[in-house]
Amino acid sequence: MPAMRIPNFVAKKERGEKITMLTAYDYTMARLLETAGVDGLLVGDSLGMVVQGKENTLPVTLEEMIYHAEMVARGASSSLVVVDLPFPAHYVGIEKTIENAARILKESSAQAVKVEAGANDVKAIEALTSAGIPVMAHCGLRPQTVHQMGGYKVHRDDKQLQVDVQAMEKAGAFAVVLECVPATAAAEVTSQVAIPTIGIGAGVGCDGQILVIHDLLGVPDGNLPKHVKAYAALGEQIVAAVRDYCTDVRNGDFPADDQTFA
Ligand code: KIV
Repeated sequence: MPAMRIPNFVAKKERGEKITMLTAYDYTMARLLETAGVDGLLVGDSLGMVVQGKENTLPVTLEEMIYHAEMVARGASSSLVVVDLPFPAHYVGIEKTIENAARILKESSAQAVKVEAGANDVKAIEALTSAGIPVMAHCGLRPQTVHQMGGYKVHRDDKQLQVDVQAMEKAGAFAVVLECVPATAAAEVTSQVAIPTIGIGAGVGCDGQILVIHDLLGVPDGNLPKHVKAYAALGEQIVAAVRDYCTDVRNGDFPADDQTFA
């Protein structure tokens, strides 16, 4: 697969080709997802929940993002690798923001950062892009503001969404994630901007889609959010496989002759 870089990403929108993205948090998964042909890998701060078992994304540190990003970038030779700028992201002053984002690119070989931002954050996004740091913006539901929202809620202010996305385009973002917004609002704003929109819970009218890989694979137990489609039931398969292993070990059936050195 030819390498997917930022200009190719934008060109896909121009050609009307849908963009595929998934989260990845380690080398092995990055290789598998790339082999399957995914255009972009996001090292999301969702790793706080799906990898670390925390309540939300807020505790994830810059060091942890770099640690995971480095593994993903090593496993991805052709997919575009984007890394979340963790909370409090760009609210640490412009210089520190550039320093943090630059550390992600320098120390992980990823190609871009993702920043939860809107019209109030134009200066920070402009500063990053002027410094040569490509930015994927993240509008709509912004998980890093979970406490202000009082939980994860569909973002229903369509006008604000348009203002935010247009501001991000003007500030130099090369793409924008739209999280949990009504499909009509996402389709409308997608038609208003030249940069690709990547939806998660934002309907089919976006230029591309992203899901958390654990959700797509059906790893979590319990109810999945409405916007998720599980394409496999790996959680159940993992539990069944490990149960079989434990049974075999307990019964003396593993290791068998095939797994034993003479
Ligand atoms: O952190 C993350 O994984 C994300 C995606 C869900 C878009 O921001």
